[in-house]
Amino acid sequence: MFQSKIAGIGYYVPKNVYTNTDLTRFMDTSDEWIQERTGIKERRYADRIGETTTTMGVAAAKIAIERANIKNEDVDFIIFATLSPDYYFPGCAVLLQREMGMKEIGALDIRNQCSGFIYALSIADQFVKTGMYKNVLVVGAEKHSFALDFSTRGRAVSVIFGDGAGAVVVQPTTDSSHGILSTHLHSDGAEAEKLAMYYPGASSGIWLDSMPDWPDQELGGLLMTKEMLEDGTAFPYMDGQAVFKKAVVKFPEVIHEALLKNNLTTEDIDLLVPHQANLRISQFIQKTLGLRDDQVFNNIQKYGNTTAASIPIALCEAWEAGKIKEGDLICLAAFGAGFTWGSALIRW
Ligand code: ACO
Repeated sequence: MFQSKIAGIGYYVPKNVYTNTDLTRFMDTSDEWIQERTGIKERRYADRIGETTTTMGVAAAKIAIERANIKNEDVDFIIFATLSPDYYFPGCAVLLQREMGMKEIGALDIRNQCSGFIYALSIADQFVKTGMYKNVLVVGAEKHSFALDFSTRGRAVSVIFGDGAGAVVVQPTTDSSHGILSTHLHSDGAEAEKLAMYYPGASSGIWLDSMPDWPDQELGGLLMTKEMLEDGTAFPYMDGQAVFKKAVVKFPEVIHEALLKNNLTTEDIDLLVPHQANLRISQFIQKTLGLRDDQVFNNIQKYGNTTAASIPIALCEAWEAGKIKEGDLICLAAFGAGFTWGSALIRW
């Protein structure tokens, strides 16, 4: 068995900055409300045309590949985590494969929302550990701005999210004291609808006159109608308080699980990089775990919640800022829609 390590890391955020005050042009909100409830000051939105989840993923991947000192053709597996793919299908991984001129390698899309990057990293870790692949590209990217309700009706959700991408290259290492020590994945679908975008989906029963007659049952449809946009059901739904309550329990739980597995304690953590859900959630986790300010990295203030991209963007920024040094113990943790949650412990 090999051990796997992060050999290269990169991130990309779009150039278009939208401050909280900018959002007041579209909806009844305020800088004070957003900062107090979420900690967010500004976020980035991709160009409406020409910039997609895939193109942002490609931009981040190029940096990660260069820093891993490999070429595009050396990548032997792609894992792409997103909840905002360019198409309903096929997924973004094959689009990235095409865009980057990679070989006919396996390309997998992960649909685990805010936990998507941890799930993707865990899968990469397993493939590298067994010796099956040597250079796995893991990407987390989101273009939320195309599907948010920017009217006052949608303000509780739309102010939170931003666009961006992060990527890592996972490689084997013979140095067993460094690399990914363990990953831990969980889910509980009992409250799946509390944070969800229901359409387009096979459970929606939209019927068009042009569809063939099928008398005994209502066929589902993959359609979105103008009425759904008008009544708001086409947009993501979030029961914010339910998310908050579950997140502040599951984040510390899965971090403790990772530490316990490796006979470590919270004092051993050099840097916790939590999924940037909401600054209040991160602060709650920090307090629950008794971590100092210098043990936790947050950048939600600048980018909002970028879902599958938030951990690799934050990890990369922390690394670029010199906050991660060789030998440091890094803990990644996420919680999100599903609900799903997970953690990864890395000796850098
Ligand atoms: N600007 C101004 N007012 C707003 C806004 C806004 N953007 N959004 C909601 N309000 C208003 C509401 O209309 C409501 O007004 P009312 O009292 O007149 O009815 C009031 O603010 C309070 O609304 P609540 O929804 O009860 O606000 P709450 O205090 O619960 O805060 C929030 C909402 C920030 C979403 C909170 O529930 C929360 O932090 N939840 C955690 C969810 C989260 O962070 N999700 C991140 C994405 S999921 C993930 O990554 C895991």
